[in-house]
Amino acid sequence: MQTTVIDHPLIAHKLTELRDMRTHASDFRRLSSELATLLGYEATRQIRIEPHQVQTPVGTADGARLAAPAPLVVPILRAGIGMLDGIVGLLPQADVGFVGLARDEETLIAVTYAARLPADLTGRQTYVLDPMLATGGSLETVISMLISRGAASVTAICLLAAPEGLARLEAAFPANPPDPAAAGVAVHVVTASVDTQLNDRGFILPGLGDAGDRLFGAI
Ligand code: PRP
Repeated sequence: MQTTVIDHPLIAHKLTELRDMRTHASDFRRLSSELATLLGYEATRQIRIEPHQVQTPVGTADGARLAAPAPLVVPILRAGIGMLDGIVGLLPQADVGFVGLARDEETLIAVTYAARLPADLTGRQTYVLDPMLATGGSLETVISMLISRGAASVTAICLLAAPEGLARLEAAFPANPPDPAAAGVAVHVVTASVDTQLNDRGFILPGLGDAGDRLFGAI
């Protein structure tokens, strides 16, 4: 697994506003979407393109367009929905799949309650949206689902990550496994921050609280 932490002043500014407990839900939604776009710019650096020629008003331009098959974007319900607009604005050609997961508050184990994904993802680049990578259980589940369906690559875009979650994903999807034959699908995590640690309830510190509740209200 590869991890990229994006260091950019606009991202730092917006992330700080997002963390602030005084930020209202409407601003939290806007900031989640804007941060997704900014992170998405870097997360799509390896997206496949092909040569494409167009006629300008005064000549011929050798350009590029996204290659087929179309990428798949997968927000993890609920909180990943807050990032969806910001990514599909950048990638209007993408298809969108959905996975619903909820962490049991006692065990912190993520339980899948919905999955709506293409059965065959052979050759497709996939982008998973989840604002918070905490224990890593939710992302490990979804990344494994995508790999088992044949995804060519998986890029997770997370606003925040905890070191514990990153370590779990690194163990599950090692970049350089001891047995080279076990080398699998490229997994990449792109985030705006690696925070300090998890607390005993599995919340990221200093984090931003519960992203799903801040976007859509407490359940
Ligand atoms: C939160 C968050 C992530 C997940 C991260 O979702 O939005 O999806 O926990 O935790 P993990 O890395 O330990 O798996 P939650 O289960 O609270 O559901 P919600 O998005 O519906 O609020």
